[in-house]
Amino acid sequence: MTETLKHLNRYSTPAAALSEPAPDDKQLRLILKTALSAPDHGRLHPYRFISIRGDARQKLSEIFGRATLMRDPDVEPSYLKKQKDKPLRSPLIVVVVAHLIDSPKIPEIEQMLSAGAAAHNVLLASNALGFGSIWLTGANAYDAHVCDELGLEENERIIGFIYIGTPKIEIPPRPIPEVSTHHSKWE
Ligand SMILES: Cc1cc2nc3c(=O)[nH]c(=O)nc-3n(C[C@H](O)[C@H](O)[C@H](O)COP(=O)(O)O)c2cc1C
Repeated sequence: MTETLKHLNRYSTPAAALSEPAPDDKQLRLILKTALSAPDHGRLHPYRFISIRGDARQKLSEIFGRATLMRDPDVEPSYLKKQKDKPLRSPLIVVVVAHLIDSPKIPEIEQMLSAGAAAHNVLLASNALGFGSIWLTGANAYDAHVCDELGLEENERIIGFIYIGTPKIEIPPRPIPEVSTHHSKWE
């Protein structure tokens, strides 16, 4: 019996340590196809993806800046710069958007869980192709101005900005909790 599995090797890379090359369009398609294979009650696929690369990241940077100022007009300049710099750290950002469908059978929470599973598949597929990635949210993910500018509808929520690129640094193995602290047998 093997003591390890390839998914145990999944880890996040800090966004600032992700550089070119990012997945090209063909690789991104494969990553998103993997995302779309996530478990999904009712086959609703209640999510969509927005990919942002190259100069479009500058537009997202401006949006993050405006949103930050709208949240707090007296914001510290250093904090404002930090927010604006976020999208410029990595070559590719995949915004995972939950697209909630009014269903008598599939509750919203299950649709959010499907969207989360799809987001996780983006991480797994990126790593399997040799890229680094990280799932980030923060205030911008829950900001009405950001959602408006990205074209989200009333029934849509940003569940994460997934930053993807080639890791510039080696990440030390991360601690994984003892299984026994998170598992009990019902007997
Ligand atoms: C829904 C969600 C949102 C997250 N948002 C952030 C975030 O805004 N900032 C952050 O530092 N980590 C965030 N994380 C955690 C990172 O994605 C990552 O899992 C964490 O740094 C641990 O690294 P690991 O994946 O290598 O264990 C988030 C994770 C999830 C699942």
